[in-house]
Amino acid sequence: MDGHLGSIGAGHMGGAILRAVLDAGLYPPPSVHISSPVPSELEAFAQCDTGSDNAAVVNASGLILLATRPQQVPGVLREIAPHMSGKCLLSIAAGVTVSSIRALLPPDAYVLRVMPNLPLAYGAGAAVLAKPEGVPEGFAGQARAIFECGGIVEVLDEDLINASTALGGSAVAYFFRMAAVMRAWGERNGIPADAALNIAAQTMLGASKMLTGSGKTPGALAESVAVPGGTTEAAFRAFDETGFDGALIAGLDACRDRGIALYKSC
Ligand SMILES: NC(=O)c1ccc[n+]([C@@H]2O[C@H](COP(=O)([O-])OP(=O)(O)OC[C@H]3O[C@@H](n4cnc5c(N)ncnc54)[C@H](OP(=O)(O)O)[C@@H]3O)[C@@H](O)[C@H]2O)c1
Repeated sequence: MDGHLGSIGAGHMGGAILRAVLDAGLYPPPSVHISSPVPSELEAFAQCDTGSDNAAVVNASGLILLATRPQQVPGVLREIAPHMSGKCLLSIAAGVTVSSIRALLPPDAYVLRVMPNLPLAYGAGAAVLAKPEGVPEGFAGQARAIFECGGIVEVLDEDLINASTALGGSAVAYFFRMAAVMRAWGERNGIPADAALNIAAQTMLGASKMLTGSGKTPGALAESVAVPGGTTEAAFRAFDETGFDGALIAGLDACRDRGIALYKSC
């Protein structure tokens, strides 16, 4: 079963991961086994082995992606536990810890935890893999390769997953919200909505490329745009007066703390 990938669930995130992996050719479609109670979600994976039997997926696979919603995880674990000996479960469920999963699986099953984000569907994801503890490199390497099909992978201690969710998993939506404000502002200033959104979105993309490609710090890049007495400096002054940084930090804190609360309830 080595070299066979399973997936329990194929919803928004599970489906995006599977699509990225198949598009990259990491696994041939017949060696990908997917179960879902939602037939329409399986239609996109007709070349794979699809069905609704979670135990059959585990039996056919070495590494199994667990892509259900967090509250559905305990029920799935109880169902698949008798089939998990020697296999590795790769969970993406927010807030569900490696130890809480291990507690419901046989002692010779392995567990990995990843926090992905949705841009992986566009090859621009940022996934955080909790440092694999006691997991054979074969499984850990496959997990990294899966998420590298859709972007970058950072490996961090598991107790940093909640903080990293505030920077990645959830942060995608902060930029969407910022784009919505910029588009609406552009319209109020007479710029057609489509053009305003294109300018804002392309600028976010360009800023990201400069951040990752220039070798310069965010502060140095900001300084190179915000020349004294100029337009950007005027914007920064208004941001300082209205507490832009403080609002961002409060949001990051709230996101991290919600992850910790979810963790305690799982
Ligand atoms: N979406 C994101 O941006 C994001 C980011 C990071 C992490 N995640 C994590 O990814 C996981 C999935 O999120 P999602 O947004 O993809 O949710 P989703 O679209 O609801 O997908 C979950 C899928 O699992 C199915 N499912 C439920 N019970 C099942 C079972 N017993 N066996 C097999 N499949 C079952 C669900 O079917 P039903 O709808 O019929 O229940 C649904 O199709 C969550 O744990 C979430 O924390 C998501």
